[in-house]
Amino acid sequence: MTDRYAVVGNPVAHSLSPQIHAAFARQTGADLEYTRLLAPLNGFADCVKTFRAKGGRGVNVTLPFKLDAWQLATRRSERAEQAQAVNTLHFDGAQIAGDNTDGAGLIRDIEMNRGFAIAGKRVLLLGAGGAARGVLLPLIERQPAALIIANRTFDKAHELAAHFSRWGNCTAQQYTELGAAAFDLVINATSASVAGVLPPLHAGVFAPGSLAYDMMYGEKANLFLNFARDLGAAQSTDGLGMLVEQAAESFFVWRGLRPQTAPVIALLREQA
Ligand code: ATR
Repeated sequence: MTDRYAVVGNPVAHSLSPQIHAAFARQTGADLEYTRLLAPLNGFADCVKTFRAKGGRGVNVTLPFKLDAWQLATRRSERAEQAQAVNTLHFDGAQIAGDNTDGAGLIRDIEMNRGFAIAGKRVLLLGAGGAARGVLLPLIERQPAALIIANRTFDKAHELAAHFSRWGNCTAQQYTELGAAAFDLVINATSASVAGVLPPLHAGVFAPGSLAYDMMYGEKANLFLNFARDLGAAQSTDGLGMLVEQAAESFFVWRGLRPQTAPVIALLREQA
């Protein structure tokens, strides 16, 4: 019998997840169908319940429903618990298991695909919204030498640092306090580029050999990545690899199999 999965969002038409999971299914010989579900803004839970009642095995969850999914889950992984966001629901008997694979996706893309080890490095995370929160625990677990959160609204960065510092080294700083500090890895987890806004980073923020990473992909990442290269970032990448890696991690949560991601990333880059 064909196993059914879907990505739930609003909007959802742009989602590449069906294409990614179709590629994973071909690769692993899995008999599955993966579709898009447009849920009304106030109708996430009903949409998921209907899909489940019709035999769905699990869903991915995208904006703006990751907190709704966190609330709907009857059981949550630690990484989902701390992210306060769920991007993967697994219907497991009577339970709805909630997980968050975004952080693992980011780490795998940086470490495995880019060959950039985070342990011992100085990391600057820009942003303190849902996207930043979703990756903080997995980042801290890699044991960077320093993890600084900077955000336009400093209080939000401070709250995140206060919460996550119990797992390891993590502090908040105002942009103006960064001074001449240099970082090995700078991750843009803000949506500022959408408004055409760049973070107020100084020349010298990128250490020799540093990597600039934008969690958005495609055109939307270019403003920040061009800026980072101008400031001296040695390497730069958008978040397409993260997108595929978080999908692979969801596939693993559902099916216990790890698909190969490199051919799927290459396929999407070709089509972009
Ligand atoms: P997401 O789930 O994408 O993280 P979010 O929770 O709304 O969305 O967070 C958006 C992030 O981008 C926040 O860090 C936000 O900064 P504030 O906390 O100060 O709002 C940041 N951001 C969005 N637009 C921005 C802009 N024009 N300039 C600077 N930062 C911006």
